[in-house]
Amino acid sequence: MIRKCLFPVAGYGTRFLPATKAMPKEMLPIVNKPLVQYGVEEAAAAGLNRIGFITGRGKRSIADHFDISYELEREIAGSGKEELLTSIRKLIDENEFAFKRQNHMKGLGHAILSGRYLMGDEPFAVVLADDLCVVDEGEEGVLAQMVKLYKQFRCSIVAIQEVPEDEVHKYGVIAGEYMKDGLYRVTDMVEKPAKEDAPSNLAIIGRYILTPDIFELIENTKPGKNGEVQITDALLKQAQDGCVLAYKFKGRRFDCGSIDGFVEATNYVYNNVFKKD
Ligand code: G1P
Repeated sequence: MIRKCLFPVAGYGTRFLPATKAMPKEMLPIVNKPLVQYGVEEAAAAGLNRIGFITGRGKRSIADHFDISYELEREIAGSGKEELLTSIRKLIDENEFAFKRQNHMKGLGHAILSGRYLMGDEPFAVVLADDLCVVDEGEEGVLAQMVKLYKQFRCSIVAIQEVPEDEVHKYGVIAGEYMKDGLYRVTDMVEKPAKEDAPSNLAIIGRYILTPDIFELIENTKPGKNGEVQITDALLKQAQDGCVLAYKFKGRRFDCGSIDGFVEATNYVYNNVFKKD
């Protein structure tokens, strides 16, 4: 019913320079796994096993990561090191991966539009791998929570969290009517507003479920904030014409697109996941 997940991974990752000079930011490891693998594991756990990447120049190592490394695997076969590849081998065996390049960097909306023919005419999820989402052991991942809601409401859904007032300028921010269980019906949405212009402190984080009519809406969306085609603007149109939901998810999210968030995530995963395994 909902089977596909799109990963826009064409961004430059300038905040991590020089680390990201010759290496995609999505391949930076949180402890021993690249960021993007956490996102793909979350998608797979939600039953989304057709994974599309919107890549760009200099991002080939992402495709290599989701492919067999024949020489390496042969080299360590039968040694104790083999098990270190178990998690990625499982993903490779159980999911399909497709890649498309975004030739021009014109914003997140444009990146998603580049995935039109990978996603086709069906609802799909979008993961921004910079946002690492973790849940308590035994709990459902954030995308799995959203897929469940999609089955109930059949409309686009964005994940949100409350952020301090002085951070709203970093996010898409929504206004909405509260329904129940952390769900809002979106009435307004603004991309990276100044504190004074923000309709609330409910910020969109990098998990979306989108219905395929979004593609036409993006096509008709003019460049907005920072001269880029914003998914937030296309979603506002969808909310005005029909329905978009915002969901205050259960779990924690780390902004791994910033150095502070990246270090926090590293400490959290090291203490709560890595050492426990
Ligand atoms: C993008 C979206 C923004 C959203 C954010 C979540 O911004 O444009 O609406 O709140 O992701 O991480 P970016 O962080 O790519 O500038």
